[in-house]
Amino acid sequence: MKVFVVGSGAREHAILWKLAQSPRNPELFVAPGNAGTAAIATNLPIAVTDFGALVSAAREHGIDLTIVGPELPLTLGIVDRFQREGLRIFGPTQAAARIEGSKSFARQIMRDAGAPTPAFEVFDDADAAREYVRSQGAALVIKADGLAAGKGVVVAQSVDEALEAVDDAMVTRAFGASGERVVIEQCLVGQELSVFCFTDGECVTPLVPACDYKRVFDGDQGPNTGGMGGYSPPPWWDAAMERQIRETCIEPIIREMARQGSPFTGVLYGGLMLTDDGPAIIEFNARLGDPEAQLILPRMENDLLDVVEAALDGSLPSIDLRWSGCTVGVVLAPGGYPGPHETGNVLAGLEEAEREAVVFQAGTALADDDRLVTGGSRTMTVVGCSATMAEARARAYAAADMVTFEGKHYRRDIASFAVG
Ligand code: AMP
Ligand code: GLY
Repeated sequence: MKVFVVGSGAREHAILWKLAQSPRNPELFVAPGNAGTAAIATNLPIAVTDFGALVSAAREHGIDLTIVGPELPLTLGIVDRFQREGLRIFGPTQAAARIEGSKSFARQIMRDAGAPTPAFEVFDDADAAREYVRSQGAALVIKADGLAAGKGVVVAQSVDEALEAVDDAMVTRAFGASGERVVIEQCLVGQELSVFCFTDGECVTPLVPACDYKRVFDGDQGPNTGGMGGYSPPPWWDAAMERQIRETCIEPIIREMARQGSPFTGVLYGGLMLTDDGPAIIEFNARLGDPEAQLILPRMENDLLDVVEAALDGSLPSIDLRWSGCTVGVVLAPGGYPGPHETGNVLAGLEEAEREAVVFQAGTALADDDRLVTGGSRTMTVVGCSATMAEARARAYAAADMVTFEGKHYRRDIASFAVG
């Protein structure tokens, strides 16, 4: 069996690492991949948005199944394109991926489904948006409707800040066309939580949880990032919470998507806030999270290939999905990240680190002299796995210290509640 993964980050490295453990021994391909994926798969130098070249590569290599990592190709319709070409692919269609690609669509689905959403309004007109901000008062969250690479959301603690965010998105067009429409919503307060399920558009697997850290510095200081680490499962997670969230926040959405004619197949990622009034939905994503994939896949006892195929064949109810142990992941980032950062710095200590933790590479490349060097974006996620969170954390940090490169920085407070 030949499996093709689309993407290049630590999430995609984790998907390939998990597939490589399948007893079915699949031959693995990835586009474009990174230096880490090259050790377990064939890297094909194709951009994730070059659907023509991806389809040709899938044909040329006789690919049986394609799995999509990132949101951009999903929202651009990679699944529809592969399906039209008669190629088997795991992920939501373009219509279903609107649950991530359009914040107004997502909020409307939540409203239609009766799922717990903060109060919100959608605006195409800046004056009407400003008027609403003044009528509501702070705190408000202003969101550019479309994808904005994680930058289109402003949590405004004052009316002035909210008005400025409206102007940035709608007038200055800081996020391009993504900001033609904005969603303004009530600010939720509580503990954030990510949950994931596999779904065939009807059946939903039990949820697996993870918590990630979005700010660049310890104590949640500094700018937002793609994610600086996290842990799974949170110590306060239990079966009652799983059931409550699945039944109120996830299953109604899957039913509503199907009812509206865009059933969702793939991994649905719920970003939740556990408020004093119960769980509320912050957002949905149409894929596995990064770094959450690196945290949950090492905990999965099943063969990922079986689960993905069951979701595609409509046989998910036959899968007994099981998770075990604890994971802590620490993201190592290059100097300057999330701003402009250096590339081409030599990496060392990976072999040692791999004796302590699982290393999922992201922004890595092989230089002409075959030395491993830093590339663009976050460099890697090191994941400690153990029966206890304290031991998982100790392993992740031991590995984080062993990997060396100029400019390396990482948060020291991931899962700090678990310090032994
Ligand atoms: P998003 O781009 O939708 O993932 O939002 C980025 C971050 O903004 C989230 O992870 C939350 O921390 C925060 N956020 C988004 N919407 C809300 C909300 N309604 N209330 C509070 N925080 C929010
Ligand atoms: N962990 C954030 C994301 O994958 O969008």
